[in-house]
Amino acid sequence: MVKVGIDKITFHVPHHYVDMVELAKARDIDPNKFLIGIGQEKMAVPTIEEDIVAMAANAANRIVTEEDKELIDQVIFATESGFDFSKSAGTYIHQMLGIQPFAKAYEVKHACYGGTAGLISAFNYVKLNPERKVLVIMSDISRYGLNSGGEATQGAGAIAMLVTANPRILSLDSETLSLTENQFDFWRPSYAEVPYVQGKYSTELYIEMFNTIIEEYAKRYPERLSDLQAISFHLPFTKMGRKCLQSLENKEETNINPELVERWFSHYQDSTFIGRQVGNVYTGSLYLSLMSLLNFDDNLEEGQRIGMFSYGSGAVAELFTGILQPGFKENVSKEGTLLHLNRRVKLDIKAYEENFEKTLSNEDGVIEVVKDKETLHPGFYLDRIDDHRRYYNEITTK
Ligand code: HMG
Repeated sequence: MVKVGIDKITFHVPHHYVDMVELAKARDIDPNKFLIGIGQEKMAVPTIEEDIVAMAANAANRIVTEEDKELIDQVIFATESGFDFSKSAGTYIHQMLGIQPFAKAYEVKHACYGGTAGLISAFNYVKLNPERKVLVIMSDISRYGLNSGGEATQGAGAIAMLVTANPRILSLDSETLSLTENQFDFWRPSYAEVPYVQGKYSTELYIEMFNTIIEEYAKRYPERLSDLQAISFHLPFTKMGRKCLQSLENKEETNINPELVERWFSHYQDSTFIGRQVGNVYTGSLYLSLMSLLNFDDNLEEGQRIGMFSYGSGAVAELFTGILQPGFKENVSKEGTLLHLNRRVKLDIKAYEENFEKTLSNEDGVIEVVKDKETLHPGFYLDRIDDHRRYYNEITTK
């Protein structure tokens, strides 16, 4: 059986962030609530030219080679921050990267679960077509509003991964378990700028669905579960996965061996490294947690199996697994991750608030988005909207 999975993976976050201690002080909150209570140190803040397509193109451009462009048959773009109900964000990426014309590009949506839906589709396609590749992208801007209950759990960023046969990082297993419940924990009707959210309920539902899935998984695939060395979680904030593991520890009746939970706990902190510095990137959050494990967990070895728990409000969850491939460490760059995070510039709270209020007008569709090109950083950016059409540009040197 041909192995299929993640051959390359990278992420892109905006150039600015807010320090969570400063945000807490500005909101008259004890900083430890953000640092310890929810587990966030920094929150990524996108400026107007760093939209979901620009972030996605910057991530994808780092991993896709000229050879890949000829072999990619699909560009799957997962987002819940889409700016168009019809045209898919994937079509921009297809053009910006110069993917071969006979590929198909489309958008996938189900809250934070959309990226996993894309990854599993890519896996199935490459299983049937092992000579071909699929580019899976997740890109989102998480916005709840200034002074809102969810403000400290905002963020922004994109993940790009290439799914191929004989992957160099993680080969995925075919058996997965998913669960759907029609719920209103977090949702954003088409007329709303920010989501409606039942904050406490959303965390309870997440934990409940994690428990339902993992107990059922233990019944269906007991050996597979015992084989899991670590689990990476969708992390809207980095306390979330810890709360799930704690819920297993505190249970009186369970199919999960306490030694397993202890093992998963021992890897948990390393899986939160990037998320703590970025915040919620919705569809890509699980994959920031996976990248954190791959980059920062020195106790993971090739051949070991890891689990991934995907959750999207509304609600769909899935537990799936994969095996770390020989040499996987050489194919992820810890230094690159640190450089990318450390290149960022801090915004004070006033600048963050002013930036937050800047939105694109949807009145006449004609806006010169960026006036001062000198303030831009190398990479793709949203240049302008003209006749309701978005146009992107790239700065190659500064
Ligand atoms: P809140 O009311 O601001 O905070 O809501 P809280 O009062 O629940 O406190 C949070 C934690 O901080 C608590 O710990 C406190 O004890 C602790 P916990 O009991 O949870 O372990 N705390 C302190 N710790 C140390 N020192 C202190 C201190 N003070 C308090 N001084 C909430 C927090 C996350 C609910 C809110 O920010 C919110 O609504 N966020 C948005 C919703 C969300 O992220 N939900 C997560 C699950 S749903 C999901 O993951 C899907 C999602 O990504 C969307 C999608 O699928 O598209 C959101």
